[in-house]
Amino acid sequence: LRHLLSTEALRRDQAEALLDTAAGMEQALTGRAVRKLPTLRGRTVVTLFYENSTRTRVSFEVAGKWMSADTINVSASASSVSKGESLRDTAATLGAAGADCLIVRHPASGAPHRIAAWLDRVGHSHLGAEGHVAVVNAGDGTHEHPTQALLDAATLRARLGRVEGAHVAIVGDVLHSRVARSNAHLLATLGARVTLVSPPTLLPVGVESWPVAVSHDLDATLGGDAAGGAPDAVMMLRVQAERMHGGFFPSAREYAIRFGLSQARADRLADHAVVLHPGPAVRGMEIASSVADSSRAAITEQVTAGVHVRMAVLYHLLAGEDVA
Ligand code: CP
Repeated sequence: LRHLLSTEALRRDQAEALLDTAAGMEQALTGRAVRKLPTLRGRTVVTLFYENSTRTRVSFEVAGKWMSADTINVSASASSVSKGESLRDTAATLGAAGADCLIVRHPASGAPHRIAAWLDRVGHSHLGAEGHVAVVNAGDGTHEHPTQALLDAATLRARLGRVEGAHVAIVGDVLHSRVARSNAHLLATLGARVTLVSPPTLLPVGVESWPVAVSHDLDATLGGDAAGGAPDAVMMLRVQAERMHGGFFPSAREYAIRFGLSQARADRLADHAVVLHPGPAVRGMEIASSVADSSRAAITEQVTAGVHVRMAVLYHLLAGEDVA
């Protein structure tokens, strides 16, 4: 694995190796008074975020620190980006300054792919002849968020004991959601059955080519669809108001009524079914507070899994452990 840019390009053996390593990281840290592994001593991990983040940025920093990497956080607003420096020059500068890995979040779909291609073309003498700067996509526009999908799969593994054969309903604003796209591809690769549940206005062009079924009726999906079986997991999406420049249709009230996970809807789920949300959640519209705070919800477990998954990603990218 040279970079981690998408789940669409991830093979099943690669995804399973990352999830197995994440589980191994969790085990290695369990019961330790000092959560510090020497694995990445001497390596430098830089987060470069052009959009705000709490979970992804912090968990990458924690993951790096727990493996003894030097971690540096660069936010675009506090860097020379605010003086007009280009994406390419910014990435090249961080590579030349000694980054072994760049974790990139950007509002433009494809930005991390461009950075990876640019950095692959230039030499980095401090990294040796074989060295390169690894790039991780930490969310690019409406395209992909691969480590979010991996942490969601790790959470499903822990809660359900499996991903293969599970029916996962992904509910809400699919149009603007990089989480939905990354999950649709990864879950299908891992053998799950995915149903997207969304208003027609919040589905992307080309969704027909995704490995999913599509529904516009949350209540029908919760009751079980023609392919058989009610969901084993319901993944609620964040409504991305900041990307809705033309306004929001349906209205927030109508959305909550038709696509929100109310307590009444959660009560209809099978006993074993788990509720996920990538966060940040808009309580009362996307998900009722009582559901988000219930034992059925795995929202904080997702965050913890995110640290272990990001440790696994850094390990495979930087510690020379190739994923098949
Ligand atoms: N799920 C997620 O990406 O959250 P942040 O925006 O807080 O990183």
